[in-house]
Formats: sequence, C-alpha cells, structure tokens
Amino acid sequence: MSDREGAGGMKRIAVVTSGGDAPGMNAAVRALVRAAASEQVEVLGIRDGFAGLLANRFEPLDSQSVAGILQRGGTILGSARFPQFCERTTQEAAATRLSAAGIDGLVVIGGNGSQRGALALHQLGFPTVGIASTIDNDLAVTEATIGVDTALNTALECIDRLKDTATSHQRAFLVEVMGRDSGYLAMMAAIASGAELAMVPERPVDLEVVAEDVRASYARGKRHYIVVVAEGAHPGARDLADYLGNHPSGFEARLSVLGHVQRGGSPTARDRVLASRYGAGAVRALLAGRSGVVVGLVEGQLAEIPLEDALAPCNKVTAEMLALADVLAR
Ligand code: F6P
Repeated sequence: MSDREGAGGMKRIAVVTSGGDAPGMNAAVRALVRAAASEQVEVLGIRDGFAGLLANRFEPLDSQSVAGILQRGGTILGSARFPQFCERTTQEAAATRLSAAGIDGLVVIGGNGSQRGALALHQLGFPTVGIASTIDNDLAVTEATIGVDTALNTALECIDRLKDTATSHQRAFLVEVMGRDSGYLAMMAAIASGAELAMVPERPVDLEVVAEDVRASYARGKRHYIVVVAEGAHPGARDLADYLGNHPSGFEARLSVLGHVQRGGSPTARDRVLASRYGAGAVRALLAGRSGVVVGLVEGQLAEIPLEDALAPCNKVTAEMLALADVLAR
C-alpha cells in the first residue's frame, strides 16, 4: 500500500501513551510513526495521555523526530493517570477533540485502564486501535505486553543482589515487586531467581504456614530465604515482615520494596522487537479499517484481539507455574 486510497482513506492518525509507562513505549511510537510515514500518513503525538488529549496537546511526529528514542525508557510523549476518562462526557469530549484536529484514527499504547478508554472511543464510533503495554502483563489473551520483559529482568537483577547479601548474613528477604492486581511479575521473578516462595494476589497464603517453612529451611541449614511478593498480594510483604518479626524463625527478616525502579530503564531486546512489531501492526490495523482491537501476541504471532476479550479477567498466573515455583524451591 502506498497511496491514500490504499491507506483506507486515513490521512492523519494520532498516538497516545497512557497510564503507567513501560519500557518499550518509545520503540512502539517510533515504529508506528515510521510505518505510517511509509504509507504517507501523518502522525500527531498526544502529550501526557488522555488528559493531554482533552487539552488539545497535539504535536506532529515524523521519522526524524522519533530518531534515537528506540533505546530510551519512559515515553517521550509523557503519560498520565486520568480517572476522569471513565466518564461518558469526557470520552465524548475526547472524540470531539480528535475529529476537530482532523484525526482519522487513534492508537492507544497502554494497559487495561487505557484500553478501557480505547474501547469507549471505539464504541463512540471513533476508529481506535490499542497496543498492549504494561509491565504487569495483565491484559488477557495476549502472551506479552510491552515492558514486562524489561521489568522482569530489572526485578531479577535486584533479587540476585539481595540474595547475595541475604546469604552472607543468613537472612530472609521479602522482596516486593510491582503488580497491583496481578502476580505475574512476582511469579516469573520467583522462578527465574530461584526464590523460596512467590506470594501473589491469585493465591493467598497462610502466614503461619510460610513461617513454618522458613523455620524448617533454617533448621536444614539454608543460608537465605527469599520471598518474592506481588504488590497486590494479601497478606502482603509488610504483613509477612511483621509476622516473622513476632514469630522468630532463625533468619532475621528484611523487607525490600523495588517499586518504580521496575518501570524505568532501557528496554530489553525482546521488548524493543515486540514494541516495533506492535507499532507497525497497529498502523496496519487502522489503515485496513479495523477498530476496537488491541495488538498483541498469540502463539508467537502478531494478533488483533477484540478489546472486550483483552479486558476480560486475565489468568496468566497459572497453577502450573506456581507449582513449578514451589517444586524448584525445595
Ligand atoms: O503500570 C502498572 C503499575 O506499575 C502497577 O504494577 C502499579 O501498581 C502501578 O502501576 C503504580 O502506579 P503509579 O505509577 O500510578 O503509582
């Protein structure tokens, strides 16, 4: 496709990065801009998420302006949490702003809150395609979201370091990783780091059962005990720290909250390639006249997933993977 007819009549599209940023968002923006340019389609970037859209904060992006951003963490467009976008009047105002700016289609790069916004715009009749991007990997159907690989590797590097000092001092470390509603990062980090336990929202634990295992491990002569705890787990890392403080196990316990360090940094090769595929895939979908889908990965292949399906409950924390983490910890 090279002429405007072939581009489904679209002359100008916009891109917004929304919600929690994720390493690789810039790589997706770059790919999208260059894929659109190859079809002679103009791209406007929207500053600071849906809040910026409401404030008409558009800026032209071309192949030159996205040079050198592939390896950069964060998002050059800026992002924002904007809970007001749940309201119908705000969504309608956003669709009006897009049309008034002569924009024919929108790409929303973000996680589940942002994709809910994308779905609302689609349902209002504005052509909208999503790109799956969140370090939580908590969109359903797609195997991977942009940023999760980088976040996982960042968490892993930190846990490896904590394990060194834990072993030196014969301590237990409770390491809290991100994941408000999802234990995916915690589960994968536990497997990849050889942690003794993963605590995730999807599988609440009994603190006394955990303490018993900590005591038994100490009695066997283990030099460390690492628990990777998802931010959204109940009981959580602080609860376990308090419990172990009041019920001595042999190990001294320390709590380490990794927090937003997992959201920054240069994307891994995997995230760069994934984001590049997603960026180009989103342009392809919009120009082919599709809307109401999010670009993701199914069985290793690029897929356009209906937004309603991607927003359904996500079950990536599987009993099989949790059992693997448990078996390997023995
Ligand atoms: O983007 C996902 C996420 O990093 C969650 O894991 C975390 O709970 C949340 O965002 C933190 O949000 P904020 O950056 O707004 O504090």
